[in-house]
Amino acid sequence: MQVDPCVLVIFGASGDLTRRKLIPAMYEMHCAGLLPPEACVLGTARRPKTDDAWREELESWVREHANGFDEAEWRSFASRIHYHACDATDQDSYPALLARISGLAAENGCRDNVLFFLSVAPNLYEPIVECIDRSGIVTEGRRWCSIDPANRSWQRVIVEKPFGNDAATAASLNRVLGRAFEEEAIYRIDHYLGKEVVQGILAFRFANTIFEPIWNQRYIENIQITAAETVGVDDRVAFYDGAGAIRDMIQSHLFQILAFVTMEPPTRYASPHVRAEKIKVIDALRVPEDDRIQEYCALGQYGPDDDGPGYAGLDGVPEGSTTETYAALALFMDNWRWAGTPFFLRSGKRLAKKLTEVVVRFRPPAANLFRGLPAFEGGGGLVPNQIVMEIAPRESIRVRFECKVPGLEFKLDTIEMDSDFQERFKAEEFEAYGPLIIDAMRGDQTLFKHRHEVEGAWAAVMPFLDERSEVLRRSIRDNYRPGSWGPASADELLARYGARWNERTPGTAD
Ligand code: BG6
Repeated sequence: MQVDPCVLVIFGASGDLTRRKLIPAMYEMHCAGLLPPEACVLGTARRPKTDDAWREELESWVREHANGFDEAEWRSFASRIHYHACDATDQDSYPALLARISGLAAENGCRDNVLFFLSVAPNLYEPIVECIDRSGIVTEGRRWCSIDPANRSWQRVIVEKPFGNDAATAASLNRVLGRAFEEEAIYRIDHYLGKEVVQGILAFRFANTIFEPIWNQRYIENIQITAAETVGVDDRVAFYDGAGAIRDMIQSHLFQILAFVTMEPPTRYASPHVRAEKIKVIDALRVPEDDRIQEYCALGQYGPDDDGPGYAGLDGVPEGSTTETYAALALFMDNWRWAGTPFFLRSGKRLAKKLTEVVVRFRPPAANLFRGLPAFEGGGGLVPNQIVMEIAPRESIRVRFECKVPGLEFKLDTIEMDSDFQERFKAEEFEAYGPLIIDAMRGDQTLFKHRHEVEGAWAAVMPFLDERSEVLRRSIRDNYRPGSWGPASADELLARYGARWNERTPGTAD
């Protein structure tokens, strides 16, 4: 699929996401020769400034956040970025904005291709999309497909998370977007889908024959998905207190991983096929009964330590806030492949280490034929097989199995095969946003979320967010220590299902 040149219009030019992620990511794409030479960036925000002033401002962000910095490459990339001051929620700003976009498109040879990126506060998404719609820039014949493919041009929109704040607001945003753009022109981005090992899950499962036959409830005891962070909420209180770990990480990023781990094989690695399968598994998630929410969820808020206050003591956190900085969910899927296998998802701030991983724990062998051997009895039971897909900080897949220790006695021990992707492929590392934006430029939606998937994901987590979760939230203040693995209730949650979190399991690497 060819990457069409376009004007990338970023709403929210002075925001953190733009400076830390989007511009460094586009710089990396430029350096790697992946950005079509005609493509250019137009940042918009309210404050007036010149192109040069914005470029100058961005240089230090790129130096700090891009993977490598080269003076000459920066100068050539900087000449492709532009700035336009406007209030994007004011319809009267649009004639001038559109003139600027058309001017850049004509100057650079981008036809009328425009890729909008909503990198603003989420409450501005709807008003901006409504203004785009009324401005007339997205016109019928110029949408993602047109009758004359040689001359077609397109207008697409990338929508950053959070995509809504609950099921109702997500549905409303989908409706507003759907009035302005075709579903095929809407790119709901999740930077976890830009991560190598997350994409690698599909290759691991569907490009091999040895794993897929056992990838089901018959052989898999449970699957754990962890996104642990050492950082706290710090200066993000204004955003975070209205979000919490379930919205910020689980409903979005961890559900993407869950979908890749559990979906049926699509007929092709192509957008409609992959997305259709993801919708189905998210749809199969069981919604717990109202009075049994506690059996499926543990929440926490980190307490104070020598390095600083706990969440409740941060500036700006309202008195008595019950926003969770840690969440663990036990989820079940009502379908033939997964009925009975629990999925344990957890994420938290200020935990023991930065770790993003999927742990697939297999059932023990049906019978232990080594049980009678004297040397074995001393060694305990068989350690179940396990596959760990580590997404961060390392990129690796590890397979754990039992083997015989060389020697006269018949003794078993556990061994791990470890494939480290960086070590093996030494690939250039890109900020996850770069390749995803390039995908949007070439019209490939495989790694973006469909409207139905987003709405399904909200439906699955609402019981843990709305008034049904009140009991759970009552006593979360300071219920875990910074640097720990979360509240004791998260261990109890797994114990209810006869399981333990991976890092507490004897015989594992961590
Ligand atoms: C963001 C969340 O989407 O993902 C942050 O808003 C979180 O709270 C971040 O820290 C984690 O991303 P990564 O790529 O570091 O795992």
